[in-house]
Amino acid sequence: MPHLSTSFYSRPPNANRFHLNLRPSTSVLRLPNRKLIPAMSFSSSSASKMNTRQVKNPGTTDPRKLSHVLKYHDQTKHSFTKYARGPHGLDWANQPNPFRRYISAPLLPLMHLPNRTDHRTQTPSSLSNYNHDNAPLYSSLFTSLPPPQPLTVSSISQLFYDSLALSAWKTTGYSTWSLRVNPSSGNLHPTEAYIIAPAIESLCDSPFVAHYAPKEHALELRAKIPSRFDLFNNFFPKNSFLVGFSSIFWREAWKYGERAFRYCNHDVGHAIAAVAMAAAELGWDVKILEGMGYKELKKLMGLDIFPEFVIPSKPIKGKIPEIEFEHPDCVLVVFPSGATGFDVNYEKLRLLMEEFSALDWKGKPNLLSKEHFCWDIIYSTAEVVKKPLTIRNAFSVDPFSSSGVCSESSYKGFTVREVVRKRRSAVDMDGVTAIDRETFYQIMLHCLPSGSRSREKQKRQLALPYRVLSWDAEVHAALFIHRVKGLPKGLYFLVRNEDHLGELKKAVRSGFVWEKPEGCPRDLPLYELARGDCQQLAKGLSCHQDIAGDGCFSLGMVAHFEPTLSNKNVWMYPRLFWETGVLGQVLYLEAHAVGISATGIGCFFDDPVHEVLGLTGSKFQSLYHFTVGGPVVDRRIMSLPAYPGPNIDA
Ligand SMILES: Cc1cc2nc3c(=O)[nH]c(=O)nc-3n(C[C@H](O)[C@H](O)[C@H](O)COP(=O)(O)O)c2cc1C
Repeated sequence: MPHLSTSFYSRPPNANRFHLNLRPSTSVLRLPNRKLIPAMSFSSSSASKMNTRQVKNPGTTDPRKLSHVLKYHDQTKHSFTKYARGPHGLDWANQPNPFRRYISAPLLPLMHLPNRTDHRTQTPSSLSNYNHDNAPLYSSLFTSLPPPQPLTVSSISQLFYDSLALSAWKTTGYSTWSLRVNPSSGNLHPTEAYIIAPAIESLCDSPFVAHYAPKEHALELRAKIPSRFDLFNNFFPKNSFLVGFSSIFWREAWKYGERAFRYCNHDVGHAIAAVAMAAAELGWDVKILEGMGYKELKKLMGLDIFPEFVIPSKPIKGKIPEIEFEHPDCVLVVFPSGATGFDVNYEKLRLLMEEFSALDWKGKPNLLSKEHFCWDIIYSTAEVVKKPLTIRNAFSVDPFSSSGVCSESSYKGFTVREVVRKRRSAVDMDGVTAIDRETFYQIMLHCLPSGSRSREKQKRQLALPYRVLSWDAEVHAALFIHRVKGLPKGLYFLVRNEDHLGELKKAVRSGFVWEKPEGCPRDLPLYELARGDCQQLAKGLSCHQDIAGDGCFSLGMVAHFEPTLSNKNVWMYPRLFWETGVLGQVLYLEAHAVGISATGIGCFFDDPVHEVLGLTGSKFQSLYHFTVGGPVVDRRIMSLPAYPGPNIDA
C-alpha cells in the first residue's frame, strides 16, 4: 500500500480563510518543500497546464470555442503562488444587493407553512416513510417518492419554502445577514429563480411567469400567459409547471473576480438539487428541459428586459448598470412522479417562445450596486458556452431508481423539511467527530447517479436528485478520509461513471492500489488508492482552510473534463459545474441527516490537486471541493427566524 507523505504542506502563518481577503503574499504561499515528498514530487509549474492554442478536437465542438473555455479554466486556477485574478480588496460601498426585485410587478404572497422542526420521530422506523405528522422522512425519498400532491398555492409555497427561501437571519450585533435554504459561495446568491405555471387558484387566475422573491417569500408576477398559448396542455403532463434559473454574474464577481463564473454555476447546481429535493417531498419529479436554447430561455423568463451587454476587451471599472443583467441558465419541468411517457416538442416550443416577447411584461429590475467592475473574461466565456436550441435532444424521463441502502439507521429520522431548512455550512470543523464506516458507505451510496443497480454499471443519472440532469455522470470524487471508524486514513476514489474506470486508472499515479475497502457494499464503486494521514494535505490543497482537514472526510470532485467539452460540446462547461453543485447539495443534506455538517469549498489550488492524484493534461480536472464533519458552532453569532426578518437587503 503506498503511503502519502504527512508533511506535504506546512500551513503558512496567517493563511487566509475563503471569506477573507483572498490575495496571498507569494512569500507566505510557498511551494511545499519537495524534499519532504519523495513519493510524490511537485513541479513548480502546472503539470496540467492546458494547451490553449492547439486543441485537438475530435468531436463537434468549435475548436476556437473550446480553446476559449480551456483558457478561461486555466486562467482562473488558484496556484500556490497566485490566486485567480480578482479585486484587491472588497468594495463594501458597492456590495451588490442580494435581492433582485422587479419594481412595480404585482406581488403574489406565498404561504408560510408551519415549521415542523420539533416533530422528529422518537424511534425512526425503517418501516415508516413518514413521521407522526405525516411529513416524509428525508431518507425515504431515496427509495421511493410519496404520492404526488395537487398543484395548489399551498404546494407551490412549500416547494419554494423548502428549496430557495430564506432559512434564517444571523446577527453579530454589528452586522446582520440572511441565509437561504440553498447555499451559495460567499453567501452572495447570484442565482435567481422563476416559475412558469398554469393558473393556480388563489394565486393567479391565468397561466403566468413570476420571479421568486426569497426575502418576501412571494412571487413577483412578470407576465400573464394568454390561455390560447395552451403551454401546459400542449407540452407537459397535467399538474406540471416549470422552474427556471438565471445568474447575475456581477454579484459573485464583486468578490471573487474572474473565478466567479465557476462559482455561479456551482450555485446553479445547488439550486437545481434544492428544487429537486423539495419537489420529491411533494411527490413530484423534475427534469431539465435540455433541448431549450439560450434564446428560448431568455424569452421564457422575460430576460429580454435587460439591454444587450457589450463586453469590453479588458477589465474595466465604473458605473456599468447593464452588467447586472441575468444570464439564463436552464429550465426544469416539475411534474407528478410516475408521469414518464411524455415527449416535448422543442420546435413547437421554440415557436411559442417567439410570442413571449409580445407579452405584457411587468416590473423594472432594481439596481444592485452603484458602481461595478467588469471582469471581461467572465462575459466572453458565458457567451462562448451559450447553448443553442437542440431540437433533436429527445426528452425522456427514466423510471425512478432507488438509491442503495446499507445503513438506514445512520439517519436520525429527520423529515425532509428538517434537513433542508436546517442545512448550514460549517464555518469550522471540530477535528474530533468521527463517523462509522457504515454511515460513510451509506452517504457514498446516495452519491451514486444510477442508484442501486447491482448488475449494471454506474453511469446514467437515474436516482434522486441526479435524475434532473439529462447527461451521463461525468463527475467523480477523490476522497481524503480523516475520521471514519474502521476505515484506514488515506486517499480513496468514488467512481460515479464506471465507463471511466479504465481511463481513470491510467490517468492517475501508477502506484495507487485501487482496492475495494473492507466492508464496502458490492454495488459501491469505491476504491482505496493510498494510505496516510491527509489532514495537512487536504487543508493545503483547499487554500489552507482548516475545514478541509478537520472533518471526517473531504473530497475533490474530479470531472471527465476535456473529452466532455470536446465530444459533447462546450456548453457542457457550466453543466459540469452544475453536476458538482447537485452532488454537493446531496453531501450537505446527507451530512445533516446523519447529524453532522458539511461545507462546499470553491477555493482550492487546482493543479496541486491534480499533481497529488498524478493527473496531467486536461482529461480530468478537479472542479469543486467539499468537507463533511462535526461542526463547531460560533456562539458569537445569533440566529433569528427567517420570517418575519429585519427589513434590510443583506
Ligand atoms: C460553490 C460554493 C463554494 C463555497 N466555498 C467555500 C469555501 O471555499 N470556504 C468556506 O468556508 N465556505 C465555502 N462555501 C460555503 C458558503 O460560504 C456558504 O454556503 C454561505 O456562506 C451560505 O451559508 P449557508 O451554506 O450556511 O447557507 C461555499 C459554498 C458554495 C455553494
